[in-house]
Formats: sequence, structure tokens, C-alpha cells
Amino acid sequence: MMYVTRRAQFSAAHRLHNPKFSEEENRRIYDKCNNPSGHGHNYDVEVTVAGKPDPETGMVIDLKILKRLLQKHVIDELDHKHLNYDVEFMRDVIPTAENIAMKIWEQLEPHIQNGTLYSVKLYESQNNYVDYRG
Ligand code: NI
Repeated sequence: MMYVTRRAQFSAAHRLHNPKFSEEENRRIYDKCNNPSGHGHNYDVEVTVAGKPDPETGMVIDLKILKRLLQKHVIDELDHKHLNYDVEFMRDVIPTAENIAMKIWEQLEPHIQNGTLYSVKLYESQNNYVDYRG
């Protein structure tokens, strides 16, 4: 098995807040990320496709195609947006790194024609990232 990865960046704002919890609980659980006006992150996303290299092309997936799919279905949708308000596919979730990674998977997976989507890694900061395997 071979793993092929494309990395990209986007910047976005969010606020972590669950309307089911009280204001106090929200502050306790989400701390600074509950700031009422939101705050921003520079995200890195790494998308990995697994498969066997095609004997004719020598490729699992053409990285140009993966780049284009990631750009169109993820980066163009999320970059310079407020994730709580501006993005249709983020409407129903609290925009934690976990949920953003899951939504990125949902956005991309139907479009991967060669190989299969293996993981979505989302770095919210240098030291914090989540790794979603579907
Ligand atoms: Ni945050």
C-alpha cells in the first residue's frame, strides 16, 4: 500500500460555543476559544490517499488532481471565513478541529476517483492537530 499526501493552508475564524450549555459552562469548557467575538487560526490540512500505484501511470492519484479537489472543495470554502456563520457545510457543528476535519473528509471523499481517502490531518496550531481516518 502506498500513501500520497497533499498539504494546504487556510485561515479562518471560529468560536467554540454550545448553546445547550450555560454561558458559564461554555467558558469553563472552551476557555479562550469561547470568546464571544471569535478568534482566528492559520490551519494546515494534510489529505492522504491510499492505494496501489497504477501500473500504467505509476501513480496512486495524480497530485495535480488532489491539489485541485482540495482547493475547490475545502480551501476555497473555508479560507478567510468565519466557520460559525459563513460556511454552509459547517452550519450544524461546533467548529472544533475534530469537527472541521470530519467535514473536510465529507467534502472530499466523494470526489476521490483513484485510491481511497485514508486520512485528514488538521493542524490548528504548531503543536495541536487531529487525525481523522473516516
Ligand atoms: Ni480556536
